[in-house]
Amino acid sequence: MKKHGDISRRDAMKVAISLIGSLIGTALGIPAIAYILGPALKKEETNWIRVSSLSTIELGTPTLLKPRIVRQDGWIEEKEEVGVYVLTEDGRNFHAMSNICTHLGCRVRWIAEREQFFSPCHNGVFDKHGYVVSGPPPRPLDEFETKIEDGNLYIQLPAVKRTS
Ligand code: FES
Repeated sequence: MKKHGDISRRDAMKVAISLIGSLIGTALGIPAIAYILGPALKKEETNWIRVSSLSTIELGTPTLLKPRIVRQDGWIEEKEEVGVYVLTEDGRNFHAMSNICTHLGCRVRWIAEREQFFSPCHNGVFDKHGYVVSGPPPRPLDEFETKIEDGNLYIQLPAVKRTS
């Protein structure tokens, strides 16, 4: 005979099944939530990469250099080139600019005769220091922090946005 407050076998099974269901749900749910939120919560890492030896950089004209980096995204490893224009007037102070146009991301190229960068997609024009001269780009070319070590130029990723 069942007394008031006794748990029947059926009720005990219900409780056990819901507990197991909750455990399975938690075991599956936590990794799924971490997978979805992980990239948003991850801080962007900064790191220094070697661009070139100082002797390869011309004086007074932007020099295009393309250091290679390896990006690790979970199990995926991607090799990538970073396009950097480096300008120095004196061989001691270096200004490193991204070669990505700030309008829609086309690669700019240096036109030596005009002393300007040109973005071919929508005719954006930048001066020697990366400031907008004409066209749709909303701001100057992004720039990189630089440092010199043992005769080599290093830049810090990611590039920094400049205001005009
Ligand atoms: S992408 Fe450079 S002007 Fe549009």
